[in-house]
Amino acid sequence: MKPFCFANDRILPSEQAFIHPLDIGLIRGYAIFDFFRTENFKPFFLEEYLRRFISSAERTYLPLNLGLHELERIVHELIEKNELEQGGIRMILSGGVSENHFSPSRGSLFIFCETLNMPPREKYEFGVKLLSEEYVRPLPTIKSTNYTLPVRLSVNWKEQGVEDLIYHYDGIISESSRSNIFIVKDNKIATPIANILFGITRRNVIALSDGVEERDIYLDELMDADEAFITSTTKRILPVTNIDGKPIGDGKVGKITRLLMEKFREVELKERMLV
Ligand code: PDD
Repeated sequence: MKPFCFANDRILPSEQAFIHPLDIGLIRGYAIFDFFRTENFKPFFLEEYLRRFISSAERTYLPLNLGLHELERIVHELIEKNELEQGGIRMILSGGVSENHFSPSRGSLFIFCETLNMPPREKYEFGVKLLSEEYVRPLPTIKSTNYTLPVRLSVNWKEQGVEDLIYHYDGIISESSRSNIFIVKDNKIATPIANILFGITRRNVIALSDGVEERDIYLDELMDADEAFITSTTKRILPVTNIDGKPIGDGKVGKITRLLMEKFREVELKERMLV
């Protein structure tokens, strides 16, 4: 955690930020957040992340008394104060303290700057393993803070060298616990459209590809894919080479995945240069 944060209505030393113990963010898991990166002191795709944050707040009936431009200004001020050349920015809006300990009220808004380590090079070279799990995130299009299931399961999956889960329901896949997923079959790229968080990285990958089908994808299709990869702010494009102990394609990072990884690097370089 970096020395300065924004809490409620002002920038202050991070260790002075606090939340009430009866906030329904804590006692009911009712809160939203968002997370983005900076490079070269530049917050990548800031407007898209802020719009998603504002939309999550609206759709959870949580009052946010700051608009897009005010949030932008605060983010820039925090980057400067924390000298955050490269790192992560986490925005959290809690459900607030309410009399019945249930209804959303005016919660606390926090913006923290963090150091951020991206996955090590081997994961991009050899790909990662996923485990399938029958589950749908509640209110999947909202970036809520409820990650109870994957946090609990991660205690065991880490021991098995597994990176994350791939959720499916009724035979149809949706997303990984903190990433979106894409498959490649016969040179065609596809990604799920239902029961997902609409990732900013997913959107960027679709924009740089020559055509991605957004549709329902069956778990069987994923297992039979030539290539698969997951996308997120903290992973970029990360190849998936094994699911439930079975190789995807030939078990190596595929050529379309590699190409997209290269193209994505160029998109980020461009974003870095923008003022
Ligand atoms: N996770 N789906 C879920 C459930 C997520 O939590 C995330 C992001 C994504 C990918 O979204 P984006 O490309 O905008 O990062 C999809 C963040 C990074 C996290 O909680 O670590």
